[in-house]
Amino acid sequence: MADKVKITYKDQEFEYPIVEGTMGDVSVDISKLRGESGLITLDPGYKNTGSCESKITFLDGEKGKLMYRGYPIEQLAEKSSFIEVMYLLLEGELPTARQLERWEKTIKSYTYVNDRVRKILNAFPSNAHPMGVLATLTSSLTAFNPKAVDPNKEEDMYHAAARLISKMDILAAWTYRKSNELELNEPDSNLSYIENFYQMMFKNNDKFELNQTIISALDKLLILHADHEQNCSASAVRLVGSSHAGLFASISAGISALWGPLHGGANQAVIEMLERIQSDGGGLQKWVDKAKNKDDEFRLMGFGHRVYKNMDPRAKIIKKAADDVLGQLGVEDEILDLARDLEAIALKDEYFIERKLYPNVDFYSGIIYRALGIPNEMFTVMFALGRLPGWISQWKEMRQTFQPIGRPRQVYTGAQTRNYVPIDER
Ligand code: CMC
Repeated sequence: MADKVKITYKDQEFEYPIVEGTMGDVSVDISKLRGESGLITLDPGYKNTGSCESKITFLDGEKGKLMYRGYPIEQLAEKSSFIEVMYLLLEGELPTARQLERWEKTIKSYTYVNDRVRKILNAFPSNAHPMGVLATLTSSLTAFNPKAVDPNKEEDMYHAAARLISKMDILAAWTYRKSNELELNEPDSNLSYIENFYQMMFKNNDKFELNQTIISALDKLLILHADHEQNCSASAVRLVGSSHAGLFASISAGISALWGPLHGGANQAVIEMLERIQSDGGGLQKWVDKAKNKDDEFRLMGFGHRVYKNMDPRAKIIKKAADDVLGQLGVEDEILDLARDLEAIALKDEYFIERKLYPNVDFYSGIIYRALGIPNEMFTVMFALGRLPGWISQWKEMRQTFQPIGRPRQVYTGAQTRNYVPIDER
């Protein structure tokens, strides 16, 4: 007989089925719990809650494993390309050469950005944070693409994904140009997706050249960021989309969720922290002690993860890539040495060992972005650009599997019923 979980409440016994995933995940399906027993579960931060079944990304936090559609991240980072990984996430299989060619062509066919979107961009002050600008511009695309995307029509979904992916790198590059008061560069359909993005970001005159070390490092970084199952921003995309809000509005919510320093914003926060450590000084142990002190708000940014209780596999790849890229570009960065020393001290510290706090993807990614010439405030935008195909895949899967509207319950702990008191009697 299949395993069941039994709950005893008020002398009554209730049984709930076990649901197993293909990689050994085990869960208890409590979808009938409230109807049968009157109970709900209480799980702040959803630390123990599976919000859905998903076929997109698997991660094993204990072993430090990550796979997209069954393919280990190490193999994809070494052998694949971001454009191919986008297809894999969205369509479920690696593309044939013809499918890949069509996918790339379709993305290139959607580079037109309405002039009014440029006007919205121009209305922002140049000191606006690029993540806020990007979230706004992404949401504004709804106005220029008012037809709802039907997730169950494959062609409709395919084109909607390509349209959004195509526009996002333009908007990301333009956001950077605008904040630096530089002229906007037009997309160039002769270039690959990453080359085009890089050129739109950095071309200032005819002497501009594409540096292939930088292009391939960016390609790898975007692959590593492409999906990470039910994280905060993917859950935001799914939750917003579950009300049948449009694709662009849902993705805009994902960008806002990613912005926070506990999530994607950590890559910017890590560099700011390392710069602060460098300028304030006082020795690395002082900062590790601050991070351990519960009366101090300081945390070691780039350390710890909700799911990984081992080294984040993405951090391993990025740390090695940071070494390679800095070497190839001939860049010496004291911040990288500082990061390595800080990691070494933290990993030997009882506090970090006990809590299984390891460097995460954001610990070294900012260091590579710096070496590639990407400014601090654009780091999280780079994360968003990488995560976009993951968000769209999560949205598509959520709609195609007819997920109900996301609507958690609560345990109310406020005032009990009381009568209204007129203002002159208070
Ligand atoms: N520095 C110091 N202490 C930490 C840190 C840290 N970076 N991270 C966790 N802890 C402690 C925390 O204080 C708690 O201690 P105690 O058990 O004594 O109360 C324990 O470790 C468990 O932490 P938590 O905050 O309950 O864990 P969580 O799963 O709610 O939070 C996290 C995960 C990533 C938000 C957290 O580790 C953190 O704030 N890290 C720094 C920010 C960061 O690097 N974020 C990027 C995450 S990776 C990119 C992405 O995918 O979002």
